[in-house]
Formats: sequence, structure tokens, C-alpha cells
Amino acid sequence: QQLDLDIEQIEKGGYEHFMLKEIFEQTSSIHDTIRGRVSPQNKEVFLGGINDVIPKLVNARRILIIGCGTSWHAGMVGEYLFEEFARIPVEVEYASEFRYRNPVIFEDDIVLAISQSGETADTLAAIKLAKEAGATVLGICNVVGSSIPRETDAGVYTHAGPEIGVASTKAFTAQVTVLTMMAMLVGYRKGTLEKEEYHKLIEEFSHLPEKIAKILEKDQDIKELSKRYIESTNALYLGRGFLFPVALEGALKLKEISYIHAEGYPAAEMKHGPIALIDEHMPVFVAATKDKSYEKIVSNIQEVKARKGHVIAIVTEGDTVIADMADYVIEIPETLEALAPLLTVVPFQLISYYIAVLRGCNVDQPRNLAKSVTVE
Ligand code: G6P
Repeated sequence: QQLDLDIEQIEKGGYEHFMLKEIFEQTSSIHDTIRGRVSPQNKEVFLGGINDVIPKLVNARRILIIGCGTSWHAGMVGEYLFEEFARIPVEVEYASEFRYRNPVIFEDDIVLAISQSGETADTLAAIKLAKEAGATVLGICNVVGSSIPRETDAGVYTHAGPEIGVASTKAFTAQVTVLTMMAMLVGYRKGTLEKEEYHKLIEEFSHLPEKIAKILEKDQDIKELSKRYIESTNALYLGRGFLFPVALEGALKLKEISYIHAEGYPAAEMKHGPIALIDEHMPVFVAATKDKSYEKIVSNIQEVKARKGHVIAIVTEGDTVIADMADYVIEIPETLEALAPLLTVVPFQLISYYIAVLRGCNVDQPRNLAKSVTVE
């Protein structure tokens, strides 16, 4: 018993929980995921695992992305990325719905399954269905040699390292990193992503680890602000464009580990329902970094404030407009719009972690949840 405890302490590397360790590991896990694949010297992206199917991806009429939970959220970011860079229509499907519908799958479809564990039963079943229909099936997985990489035609590993905390953190950012590299590569080869833009993305990729490190320096400030919300019973997460899936992921993190009811919404949809819930007791977490929908998100924040909601906004360094309106802002370094999900999600992970810890919850093993769901 004593020995087990000691081993666990050693594995946590000085952190109180695996989840916190894994959040902090994102500086290195992103680096490990891009290492040998993104070369700022040669200005190239190279993904050995899917090199042979690049022509198929370039010519794809459609991509179906399949996953569950956090992996499904990564897939949502993938939809925006493939549409933006490669102009390929994408549908993102919950594996559990896809497998039991009567989905239309064409032989020239690319089915892309995303899974941290590589063992999720519904995702595996969806892959089998896609294979039977003759589609090309690709995987993005973290666990090397797991079932999904064995079932797929080709794929890319995320290299995030073992993830122990039930709530996925570093696996999510690694999945989004792989999806970004894939979409850039396909877009560039297809000619829908300009060379200049492609090179800018490659250059910016190499700065992501240091930018994440800068966000993590705010850890204690985030802990302080989290104290304010430990009695909350509901929370709303908002984002637009690339940051809408981040809002979904932020809400999932909070509900998974703190048991506070939380919902993620595209900010403009707020007026079609959730706005009715807003009062002085409702924290509203907004991903509001500077991008093409910035002005719109500013007016969404105004709408929340007009109803006395409590706004906690993730903003770009130096933002004064939202700083004047919001109750709290967390500044993060500037980056390219398509890469913003990789940075904005980090403060949301920390907020959930601290709210849950301060509520006395078991963050690494939340009630009723499993790290890997191998039954339906
Ligand atoms: C479970 C885990 C989640 C995970 C989901 C999908 O619900 O608790 O963290 O996102 O399964 O798992 P996968 O291994 O397929 O990514």
C-alpha cells in the first residue's frame, strides 16, 4: 500500500494531481507532436503516417470526422480547419449516433476517427461500418498499438504521452495540433492554402510551446479567480468560429470534474435560449481573442453584462475594450486565428481544475466517468 502511494507520487512528478501535471505538460506534448513533422527550416509539414493517402485527401469530396467526448470537440475544430485551409466539406459525427443510424458513406469518403485511447467501443464500431462501406479510414490516436490504429488504413499518432487524468487535456491539444498539420498540408498541396499563409502557420507553430508556457505562468491568478465560482450551480461558455468548439470543451471540462452544470454555445446562439438563464449568479466564460469575429463577441459580452451576468473573458494581450467590460480577463499571447484553440483552451482547463479542487472533488477520477469507454 505504502509503496503504491509512493509510486503514484513519483508519477505525478511533484504535482498534486495528474490533471494538473498533464495541463502543464502541454508545452512539451505539443512540441513532441510537431517534432519531425513541422520544419521551420525547410518550411514543410511532413506526416509519414498518412503520406501515401495525401492524394486521396487532396481529391476528397468529403471528410467524416468521428469521435466521442473531448475527441469529438477536437473533431469540431478539425471541421473549421479543413474547410478553411483545404475547402473540403466536413461532417463531424458522434460515433454512437453514426453507428446506429443508416449513414450514407461513399467509397470516396475519408473517415477520420479521433480517439485518445484508441479503444472507445463506439468509435471502433463506426470504423468497422465505414470500412465495410469501402471508405478510406484514417485515425488520430494517442495510445500506440491500440485497437483503432490497428483497424484504420493509415493515421497519425498524437505523441502526447500517457494521459492518466480522466478529463482529457493534453490529448485534446495534441489532437488539434495533428488536425491543424493535416489540414495545412492538404490545403497547401491542393492549392487552396497560399504558400505565404502556409509558411506563416509553420513559423507560428514553433512558438506555440513558449506561448503556452506564458499562459501557464498565470496559474496562481487563475486559481485566485476560480475561488469566486466554487458555489456556482451553472455556467455558460461562449465562443465563435474556431473558438466555438473551445467553448464546448471548456464546459465539458467543468461539468466532468466539478459537477457544476455547464453549457457551451456559439456566442450568437445565446439569444435563442441561454440568455434567459443569465443573472448575477451566472458566470459566463468567453473565449474572445482578437479575430475576425471580435466585434461580434464584444457585443455578445455587452448583452451578458446588460443582464448582470458575470463575464470572465480570455482575451489577446493588450486588449483594453473587453477589459473595461468584463469582470475578469485572462490575457493570452497573440497567435494566428486558426491556432487560437490551442491557446484559449488552456485557461479553461485550469479554471475547471481549480474550481473542482476547491470544491473538494476527485479531479483525476470523477464520479461515474471512465478514462476509456470500451463498452457501449
Ligand atoms: C471518455 C473520457 C473522455 C474522452 C472520451 C473519448 O468519456 O472520459 O475524456 O474524451 O471517453 O475517449 P477517446 O479515448 O476515444 O478519446
